[in-house]
Amino acid sequence: MIIAIDGPAASGKSTTAKKVAEKLSFTHLDTGAMYRAVTLFFLDNKTVLSDPDQIQYAVNLIRLKFLKDQILLMNDVDVSAEIRTGRVTEFVSEVSALQQVREKMVYLQREIAKFQDVVVEGRDIGTHVFPDAKFKFFIVADVEERARRRYDELKNKFGDINFNDVLLDLKGRDKKDASRKISPLKKAEDAIVIDTTSLTIDEQVDEIIDIINNKIHNRS
Ligand code: CDP
Repeated sequence: MIIAIDGPAASGKSTTAKKVAEKLSFTHLDTGAMYRAVTLFFLDNKTVLSDPDQIQYAVNLIRLKFLKDQILLMNDVDVSAEIRTGRVTEFVSEVSALQQVREKMVYLQREIAKFQDVVVEGRDIGTHVFPDAKFKFFIVADVEERARRRYDELKNKFGDINFNDVLLDLKGRDKKDASRKISPLKKAEDAIVIDTTSLTIDEQVDEIIDIINNKIHNRS
């Protein structure tokens, strides 16, 4: 079974997807982490984003593997922390708009979901990667609230962070992600919208679990 969770940056997708997956004993797949890893590879290897040959060459070299607890290995190196740094965040929307990158990531995502139950989070999961997902959720929250949450998260991890930079990053990425040509960030027509602006993590997780249980047990 596939549960798709899409939504804009810092809307609470990751925490929600992780907890929902835990409760249902499903695998959690964070597709954003995959695009972040590709971005890190491109930055480290100085891949020129306007050169399709360089992009294809780089894409072919990337091997990704998720371990337990959202540890992500890229070519056998743990990149879980580095993919969250500002330099990766700055370029991830540009890199993830590239067709060759998306083709490879979508292929890998479908492979991972072939033989297991998954909660998959991203931007295009319900619209493009798994249009037949049994459940589709679109998580939204007020942009100021999202910036506050991301600011707290980054401050704890990396220290010296400016709130306005975080707010501008979210607004910029949302705009780029929603306006790109290939698989833009968009609510699938049949997705259920969850507004988390004034919800706690537990409340949003419970809301999703209730919807899933009600449908599975035919209670609505
Ligand atoms: O955690 P945060 O909301 O900051 O973003 P993320 O889920 O880690 O995704 C990082 C970036 O990857 C997004 O801003 C998108 O540009 C891209 N992405 C995408 O294009 N398609 C996906 N399915 C997931 C992420």
